[in-house]
Amino acid sequence: MAAPASTVPVVSVHHYTDRLFKFRVKRPKNFRFESGQFAMIGLNIEDEPIMRAYSMASPSWDDELEFYSIIVPDGPLTSQLRYIKPEDPLLISGRGVGSLTMKALKPGKRLFMLATGTGIAPFASIMRDPETYERFDEVYLTHTCREAAELSYGKELVAALREDPLCGEFANKLTYYSSVTREEYEHMGRITDLLESGQVFSDLGIAPFDAEGDRVMICGSMELNRDLQKILEAQGFVEGSRRQKGSYVLERAFVG
Ligand code: A2P
Repeated sequence: MAAPASTVPVVSVHHYTDRLFKFRVKRPKNFRFESGQFAMIGLNIEDEPIMRAYSMASPSWDDELEFYSIIVPDGPLTSQLRYIKPEDPLLISGRGVGSLTMKALKPGKRLFMLATGTGIAPFASIMRDPETYERFDEVYLTHTCREAAELSYGKELVAALREDPLCGEFANKLTYYSSVTREEYEHMGRITDLLESGQVFSDLGIAPFDAEGDRVMICGSMELNRDLQKILEAQGFVEGSRRQKGSYVLERAFVG
């Protein structure tokens, strides 16, 4: 990540809850990434650049970059980032990195993207990339949050996919499943439990995991990643990387 940072203007900001917001910035002309990757972004705070890793939530073909952030009240970056408004300058490093991409996965039939909290950000990119639907027959996005209000960003994306200029025609290949852990909701419980009990599959009316044809992408907290990793590996899934493709990949949802 030695590439120098550029400064780009904020284009729009939208707050979903008092802890969650998205913002869009102009994309630097030389900024390259693959859908699902992250980069270092930040602000100059008291003349010091404070940079943190953020997944790009927009697809790799977009002229703007979108980010989805949590607010950590005493977080060095997000405690300030929460106040950004259009035209403010954002710092961004030279290019995208990370292996939560199609390139690290072997070909397959069904793609499962499992997200908790702000871990939905890289999937907001991947679900708006036509390549995803060219590679897979069926695409599933699961999102689990503490409260139903925290699902709004993902629900909005899924609803907008039909109108998407590049992916609209594939919208019926995407199936969305959400669950909530700390209040009443249609589907309740941690994704780990819902997978292990088979509830997700029976709710969706689909066959359970099969390491032969299924590919899985995971993005959440370190604990979530570790717990899902155990579940998948017990069923024969193998972690992929850019050098050695596999049947699942994961990324940490960063907070700070
Ligand atoms: P829970 O409410 O039971 O902790 P967070 O906001 O802390 O990142 O959590 C986002 C969602 O991920 C919550 O619904 C939380 O459930 C769930 N979660 C957190 N840790 C794990 C884990 N190790 N396995 C499965 N789900 C988890």
